[in-house]
Amino acid sequence: MTNSIIYSFVASLLLGFGSAAPVTEEKRAAQVPAASHVLKVNRNMASRPGAVLSDRFRKFRAVADSPATAPAGVGTAVCAQHQVEYLIDVKAGGNNFSLIIDTGSSDTWFVKNGFQCLDTYHRSVGLSYCNFGPTFKGSFPGGQITEQHFNITYGSANGPFLNGQMGYSDITVAGVTIPKQQIALATIGAWNGDGISSGILGLGLPGLTEAFTGNAPANDGLQNMVTYAPVVTTVSKQLGSGIFSLGLSRNASQSFLALGGVPQDVKVGPYATTPIQKLGKRLGGSDYFYYTMQPTRMVWNSSTLNGTASPSPQVIVDSGTTLNLLPYDMARSINAQYTPHAVLVPEQGGWFVPCSAVPPSLGVEIGGQMIWTDPANMILPEVKDPSTGYCATGIGAVDSAPYILGDVFMQGLVSIFDVGDKMEMKFAKRLP
Ligand SMILES: *[C@@H]1O[C@H](CO)[C@@H](O)[C@H](O)[C@H]1NC(C)=O
Ligand SMILES: *[C@@H]1O[C@H](CO)[C@@H](O)[C@H](O)[C@H]1NC(C)=O
Ligand SMILES: *[C@@H]1O[C@H](CO)[C@@H](O)[C@H](O)[C@H]1NC(C)=O
Ligand SMILES: *[C@@H]1O[C@H](CO)[C@@H](O)[C@H](O)[C@H]1NC(C)=O
Ligand SMILES: *[C@@H]1O[C@H](CO)[C@@H](O)[C@H](O)[C@H]1NC(C)=O
Repeated sequence: MTNSIIYSFVASLLLGFGSAAPVTEEKRAAQVPAASHVLKVNRNMASRPGAVLSDRFRKFRAVADSPATAPAGVGTAVCAQHQVEYLIDVKAGGNNFSLIIDTGSSDTWFVKNGFQCLDTYHRSVGLSYCNFGPTFKGSFPGGQITEQHFNITYGSANGPFLNGQMGYSDITVAGVTIPKQQIALATIGAWNGDGISSGILGLGLPGLTEAFTGNAPANDGLQNMVTYAPVVTTVSKQLGSGIFSLGLSRNASQSFLALGGVPQDVKVGPYATTPIQKLGKRLGGSDYFYYTMQPTRMVWNSSTLNGTASPSPQVIVDSGTTLNLLPYDMARSINAQYTPHAVLVPEQGGWFVPCSAVPPSLGVEIGGQMIWTDPANMILPEVKDPSTGYCATGIGAVDSAPYILGDVFMQGLVSIFDVGDKMEMKFAKRLP
């Protein structure tokens, strides 16, 4: 997921940064350490119809069929049928919780017992409307940080939002216990849950943390924002390694999060390597925020048509977003290459095809190496347009940066995030 305040913070200078860090090619076999801390990841395929996908779909937003009028429907919560997301078990406060694995945000939070659920118009509604999994009972085991609070809005300005408390708790992820991790407990907000997950495991970089000083959330802004050490920072210190890897697979028994490296028994093709790029800050300077990269180009082709974006738009790698979300013209062009071609359904905010359609091949060239998306990811059998029974395609549009490579890109790959000295990402095709 992406949080909106940060993007308004960095977006102004984003364009200037497209060429900031050259993409490097790694020809020899990658020296990736083996990880002993590996945890299976569950792919949640809750079949509950309704607004479940809408926070993932907050970026699968409605766009009219012309870029000029696109913003008209933007930001409305779009009803989608089924949820596609990756969850992981995290232990905290003596209980196990299922959290959404999110490389697109940095706060790790749990829903606190007594949470007040709001609808998107900020009206108080029953807790079941937010549809969380089990709540976090009691307060912070390691103490509350009374001079800070949590305030986040995901996606667009009228996306899901949460307010809450900040404090400390030991948390255990993939067999690693992180003592005194700063976490948030959400006390009020709007959320479209899945009935299973109790919050988010934010695997993003420190620049994206959303803690604020004082106690007037309505006035929160860059002036009272404080950065703290998120899970990737504390885990790196603990393990002496800034590497973690994600193997997301539609086959749940193959998905993993590994801290410290890649699981030993996982086989991969050659790795494509790229630096994580800094983004400019509005007040000057630059910093790391998202897992941002600049692919050399993207290509898409059917048996009769070829398409290329060269240079590719700058993209972020976000496990908390289901679809690849690209500039409108690119998304339209890729969707036009399905056989039969995909149809934009404005009420659903995305493109749909007969579920048996043939998708185009989609390649993302990183460090001189083409990473082809598994064609099976290009059509989502779990997400159907109720009026036609068509399936969603894996390619959606957003009207402004950050453009996103989500689970559609990550599934079937091993993705390595190295937040140590190297600050780079690696991607390789997972081999059987
Ligand atoms: C949490 O999950 C682990 C592994 O699945 C299990 O061994 C443990 O008993 C669970 N603990 C609680 C409090 O449910
Ligand atoms: C902080 O919370 C308030 C109250 O819910 C909200 O109006 C505001 O938009 C939030 N700010 C951010 C940065 O999410
Ligand atoms: C899922 O993965 C497991 C373990 O690798 C394998 O045994 C099983 O056949 C796979 N299932 C499908 C549907 O591919
Ligand atoms: C697209 O091009 C790639 C590489 O040339 C090729 O392997 C693939 O089969 C093509 N895709 C389609 C749908 O024809
Ligand atoms: C697509 O591009 C490839 C490589 O540039 C070329 O070999 C192929 O003939 C093109 N296919 C079509 C249908 O234009």
